Amino acid sequence: MRKLRTQRVIAVLASVLLVGGVAACGNSDTGGGGSKDDGKITMGFSQVGAESGWRTANTTSIKESAAAAGIDLKFDDAQQKQENQIKAIRNYIQQKVDVIAFSPVVESGWDTVLKEAKDAGIPVILTDRSVDSADKSLYKTFLGSDFVKEGRLAGEWLVEQKKGATGPVNIVELQGNTGAAPANDRKKGFGEAIAVNPNLKIIASQPGDFTRAGGKQVMEQFLKANPKIDVLFAHNDDMGLGALEAITAAGKVPGKDITIITVDAVKDGMQALADGKFNFIAECSPLLGPQLMDLAKKVHAGEEVPARIETEETTFTQEQAKEALPNRKY
Ligand code: AHR
Repeated sequence: MRKLRTQRVIAVLASVLLVGGVAACGNSDTGGGGSKDDGKITMGFSQVGAESGWRTANTTSIKESAAAAGIDLKFDDAQQKQENQIKAIRNYIQQKVDVIAFSPVVESGWDTVLKEAKDAGIPVILTDRSVDSADKSLYKTFLGSDFVKEGRLAGEWLVEQKKGATGPVNIVELQGNTGAAPANDRKKGFGEAIAVNPNLKIIASQPGDFTRAGGKQVMEQFLKANPKIDVLFAHNDDMGLGALEAITAAGKVPGKDITIITVDAVKDGMQALADGKFNFIAECSPLLGPQLMDLAKKVHAGEEVPARIETEETTFTQEQAKEALPNRKY
């Protein structure tokens, strides 16, 4: 009887060890290095912050898509600070999540922490914004927009509108946060596009940090310092919306006295465009969640993925905004 009981205990122990061994193999086979063996993928996501309507829509898309895809999401809001993002990524490495995804607040300074993730065997996906690391093996893929193209489309529209101008057209520019990929790239694309017409001149360019408050404050300074402003190019809708307040307070009519071009096409921006307060928007889609979750599953399974996946986007005039507004989801 005693011998039988001992045999049973040994058999149970052996099966426990066997199941544990298979599960551990399964984990390393997928290349995930994850913390749990419940079959669910765990994603650690570091978000830039909550600076704009675009960002809010992006966060919602990521949270909803993770739930729909059955991915266990750990989410951190970095409040527009790189040090917070680095801290969050280090926490995710410690927790041995399966995949890390993040939208880098600025382009530079990521190599050390990305190397730590790589050494821990945790794949990294960049989403929305990219990094300037020379070593492309530090991350699996980038999913997001072509920000240079957005700036270029904005600039090309302006060139067309002002082709008959016989004198200088004074442009002020509200940039996103310093060092961010969309701020650098939109500035570049816009600058290159307007260079074909020497009448088009950027007379002032300052960061408004992608926020309404920043847009309002910097536009007030622009208006005080420059008696003749013909055009505002704002790197996102929120800064443009903040600038509307400053322009109106200065006794000018937005969309008429000052031509306003922005990027994003979130609902409030589209409403301002349909109302004639903005003149043109280059779209930047925040709905990256579903594609991000697909990519997470693929990299976790060890599948090859394209190095760069760009979002399809369009542009809107005032008439097009009126048509598109009723169906706008964000
Ligand atoms: O990185 C995308 C940009 O970040 C959006 O254009 C802007 O609204 C956001 O804050």
